[in-house]
Amino acid sequence: MTSHAQRFDKLSRLLGEWQSLWRSVPFHQHTPDWATTHPALFEAAMRLDDAGLEELRDDDPYVSVVSLARHPLAEYLPLDQLAALCEVPTVSTPRSSLPASWGVHVGGRKWRQIEAFVPHVPCDPGAHLVEWCAGKGHLARALSSLHHQAVTALEWQPALCRDGKQLAARQGARVTMVEQDVMATSAADRLSASSQLVALHACGDLHVRLLALAAERGAGVTLAPCCYQRTAAAHYRPLSTMGRALVERDGLVLPRDTLALAVQETVTAPRQVRRQRRRNSAWRLAFDLLQRQSRDVDSYLPVPSLAYGRMPPTLAEFCAWAAERKGVTLPVRIDWAALEARGWQRQAEVERLEVVRQLFRRPLELWLVLDRVLMLEEAGYRVSLGTFCQRQLTPRNLLIQAVPHGEYQASTTRGAP
Ligand SMILES: C[S@@+](CC[C@H](N)C(=O)[O-])C[C@H]1O[C@@H](n2cnc3c(N)ncnc32)[C@H](O)[C@@H]1O
Repeated sequence: MTSHAQRFDKLSRLLGEWQSLWRSVPFHQHTPDWATTHPALFEAAMRLDDAGLEELRDDDPYVSVVSLARHPLAEYLPLDQLAALCEVPTVSTPRSSLPASWGVHVGGRKWRQIEAFVPHVPCDPGAHLVEWCAGKGHLARALSSLHHQAVTALEWQPALCRDGKQLAARQGARVTMVEQDVMATSAADRLSASSQLVALHACGDLHVRLLALAAERGAGVTLAPCCYQRTAAAHYRPLSTMGRALVERDGLVLPRDTLALAVQETVTAPRQVRRQRRRNSAWRLAFDLLQRQSRDVDSYLPVPSLAYGRMPPTLAEFCAWAAERKGVTLPVRIDWAALEARGWQRQAEVERLEVVRQLFRRPLELWLVLDRVLMLEEAGYRVSLGTFCQRQLTPRNLLIQAVPHGEYQASTTRGAP
C-alpha cells in the first residue's frame, strides 16, 4: 500500500515535470509556452471538436477508468499515473440521512453535505467538539443532535452568531455560538487536547490556522478543506517539512493565482448559465485583442468582473465600459462583427487548452491536501484521507481525519480501530 508520503513524493515529481501545462492560463496567453515543447499535444487539443469538448466538460476522467482510457489526449499525458495517484478511498457512511426537521433553514445541497459529513466526526464522550468558522452553526447543530453532545461554534460575525443561537434554541441543540476571530491569538484559548476540531469548507488561511492550533494543542481534526488560494501569502508556503523539500526538489512554483486551479468549478451549471458565461468570456477575449492593439502592448489586462446579468447588451458597450475602467483609448473605427468573431475564435482555443489544464486540477488539489496530511503526520497524528461524498454534491469532497498520537495509542490499546 502506498503511504501518504510516497504518494506525495510521486505526485510532486509529476506535477513538477508537467508544470508548464497547468501553470499557463489560456485566457491570458494567446499561445501557451508549452505549445513549442509539446507540439503534438497542442495540435491534438486544438483538433478537439465541439461535441467531444462538451462531453469532456461534463466528465471527470479521474472518477472513471473508462473515461480516462478513451480520453482523446491520453497518449500525450501521464494520465494513468496521475489517476493512480489521485485514487482516494470513499470513507464509509454509517448512515445516509438525518431527520429532515434538523435541516430546516439550511439550503438543500448544504444540508446533504452536512448529512454526508457528520457521521465521520468521532464522538468520544470526553471530546469537546468545536466547529471552526461556523456561519450559523448548521453543522454544529447537526453534530450536537446526532451525537447528543455539546458543541462550541466559532464564528466572527455577530449577526451569524445571533441567528445561530436562535436556531439552536429552536431545535433544542446544545450549541454555543462564540463570537471569535479564529486568526486572533485568543482563538488558541478555545481549544484543549480534548478538542475535536471540525470544519466543512473553511477557506485557505482559516483551515491552515485550524491545523496549526490543533497540532499545537494535540486536538483531533475532521476537515474538508477548500479555497487554497484564499491566503495572505502571495506564494504558497508548504505546511509540511516534506512539502517544503518537494517544492525545492521539483522546482514547483505556486503563486496564489495558480492555487485557484485546484478548486476551479467543474460541476456543470445549467445550460442557459453556461451559454451566457461563454458569451461573456468571448467578449472579454475580444476586448483583450482590442486593448493589446490599442495600447500596442501584447499583454493581458485584467478587467473587473460583473455580477451575473450585469453584462452590457452589446460587445461595443462592453468594450466601452471595460476601456473606461482600464483607461484605454479605443480606435474610432472598429469592425465589431469581425472583432466578435475573433473573440469567439479565441474562446474556442481557450476551451481546448483548458481541457489540458483541467487534467491537472485534481492532482494539484490532492498535492495541497497531502501537504496538510503530511504536516499532521509530522506532528505525530495518524491521518486518513478519503472522499465523504460524490463530487456532484460538492467537488470539495476530500476529508482529512486526524487522531493525535497519544489518543491513537490509547484507542488501539482499548481495541478500537
Ligand atoms: C464559507 S463560510 C462556511 C460556513 C459554514 N462552515 C458552512 O459550511 O456553512 C465561512 C465562514 O467563516 C467565517 N469567517 C471568516 N473569517 C473568519 C475569522 N477570521 N474568524 C471566524 N470566522 C470567520 C465567515 O463569516 C463565514 O461564516
